[in-house]
Amino acid sequence: MQEFDPQVLNEPPIPPPEEFSKRAHVRSMEEYEEMRAHAERDPEGFWGEQAKMLHWFEPPKKILEWDMPHAKWFVGGKLNVSDNCLDRHLEENGNKPALLWEAEDGATLQLTYTELQECVCKFANVLSGLGVKAGDSVTIYMPMIPELPIAMLACARIGAVHSVIFGGFSAIAIADRIADSKSKILITADGGYRRGKVIPLKEMADAALLNCPTVEKSIVVRRTNGKVDWKEGRDLWWHELVEKASKECPAVAFDSEQPLFILYTSGTTGKPKGVMHTSAGYLLQCQWSTRLVFDLRDDDIYWCTADIGWVTGHSYMVYGPLANGASIVMYEGAPDFPRRDRFWEIVARYKVTIFYSSATAVRAFMAWGNEWIDKHDISSLRLLGTVGEPINPAAWKWYSQVIGKGRCPIVDTWWQTETGSILISPLPGATPTKPGCATRPLPGVAARVVTMQGETVKPGETGYLIIERPWPSMLRTIYGDDERYRRDYWSRIPGVYFTGDAAQCDKDNYIWVLGRVDDVIKVAGHRLSSMEIESALVSHPAVAEAAVVAKPDEIRGEAIVAFVTLRSGQNPSRELRAALGEHIAMTIGTIARPSEVRFADLLPKTRSGKIMRRLLREVAQKGGVSGDTTTLEDLSVIEKLAHTRGHDEE
Ligand code: PRX
Repeated sequence: MQEFDPQVLNEPPIPPPEEFSKRAHVRSMEEYEEMRAHAERDPEGFWGEQAKMLHWFEPPKKILEWDMPHAKWFVGGKLNVSDNCLDRHLEENGNKPALLWEAEDGATLQLTYTELQECVCKFANVLSGLGVKAGDSVTIYMPMIPELPIAMLACARIGAVHSVIFGGFSAIAIADRIADSKSKILITADGGYRRGKVIPLKEMADAALLNCPTVEKSIVVRRTNGKVDWKEGRDLWWHELVEKASKECPAVAFDSEQPLFILYTSGTTGKPKGVMHTSAGYLLQCQWSTRLVFDLRDDDIYWCTADIGWVTGHSYMVYGPLANGASIVMYEGAPDFPRRDRFWEIVARYKVTIFYSSATAVRAFMAWGNEWIDKHDISSLRLLGTVGEPINPAAWKWYSQVIGKGRCPIVDTWWQTETGSILISPLPGATPTKPGCATRPLPGVAARVVTMQGETVKPGETGYLIIERPWPSMLRTIYGDDERYRRDYWSRIPGVYFTGDAAQCDKDNYIWVLGRVDDVIKVAGHRLSSMEIESALVSHPAVAEAAVVAKPDEIRGEAIVAFVTLRSGQNPSRELRAALGEHIAMTIGTIARPSEVRFADLLPKTRSGKIMRRLLREVAQKGGVSGDTTTLEDLSVIEKLAHTRGHDEE
């Protein structure tokens, strides 16, 4: 959790640019307050009204059935998510670009709504032909290529449940997730490009499949043309399957609560949780929030830079913008390839109007220097967004001035994999902003900052961020572990949704999100679990015990520090440190590689044997401990730990 500088509260709010407000969907705080009051008075009436923006085969009979902690939204309604993202736009906007894709090597591909719908229909027929039925889960492990959203929408079309795994995860992490979701089909590619190098996705997927007995078929997109192993009977080329498939695939009407996807995310235990989202409520709130928060209009060119492997890519690269019929930029590669101005080159080339990225990316651009930006005409931009982690006021101001040229409002959007869509954010034409603050809850969202007893905290006091009422795009359960769903989210403070974030609410009722209160670490906005990294470490033969904590990092928000004790006979060495980093990269993925591995003789424990991470955090962040150590078993441990080093040779 970041330290909060109360000074920022005294800065005057920045009103939205007048020119922007004049044309915005929501133009003033009065309008916002009116919507909010309507939603407070009659939440179901409010969401029922919004739900008219979806295309229904049969309208819902009841808006909400709430049997704590289980929600059913838009009960009795029937719709098809892919029909909502594609078919309904064809009549008026069939020739409008849906996807403007750019490869890392500069190649481009443009798909209109008509073309994208055809690709989706064909691939939906491929999946049905392989025996995939409504409710079956399909795992997708792909680079950022058009086939990725096509595969997701094809699943949605036939009611299959996709589980997208971020392309940076390694074989063991993939196998765990496939085993949990019991997928029969895996969709992958021969490889992907990152900074000019090939990432061997199929090789990784093949290694995972050695431990995945449920998977019968693996569909492979040819992207790099590199040599890959081939298992006859299991492996199938995407292009060969699609070539033979019909482009006719009428959208079937599914129930509002038809599961749409599982997305694995990290929690406080070593086992990742499969966050389950369903159809109508999720899609509605994605469509609605994209329109409101990004003030989306017909002629916008919208670019969310997130990887589709994370929730931001699901909700704000695929479902939200497509449900709105927007033109979306999708880029395959790294922001600094071949040079550090790649993003601004893309903004200039496609005349991007809305740009949504992470706080880490903003801090990196800032560190790289303004000269990379000054080379390009980025005057098409009219709105900027950030997500994934708190953004420090200095980075916010730089974003506003150097990228936004003081003209573009910034939406600092707070939400989670579990919430499905943005819950706290400024409305760009209405809300006065404060640098570093996600500002106010969206209308219909009952967010509060409370004590563990559920009492609202006073302005300036830190508390827990909770959501009081169910909302349409909320997760429905943890796949295969409803008890964990109940325990993690609805029992910590009974009766309300516990976000796991600490926050403050200021005198203007603005919510400042400070960071996680649990053992979730956010590296570059990516969510990792301390426990998952610890289990990876102790699976190495040299390691006896491990404890993983975060320390602040100027660019990436947080960095991982691992404290490790070795088995007898093992000696600390630079090689071993590198080997442990490599072992984590192999077990989870390179994103989880610690920036420091510190060897210790002992870890600080309570008398009952629990590792005291709080103390380790202090050692990692400040080099020593000033807090309460009364429950610590052996005080000398801390003294020794303070002398461990992360980088020096032993
Ligand atoms: O701690 C909050 C932080 O990211 C967490 C959710 O992570 P994940 O499920 O990976 O979803 C990230 C993308 C939606 C939250 O619990 N977080 C997200 N957005 C913000 C944020 N912290 C501060 N400000 C934000 N705008």
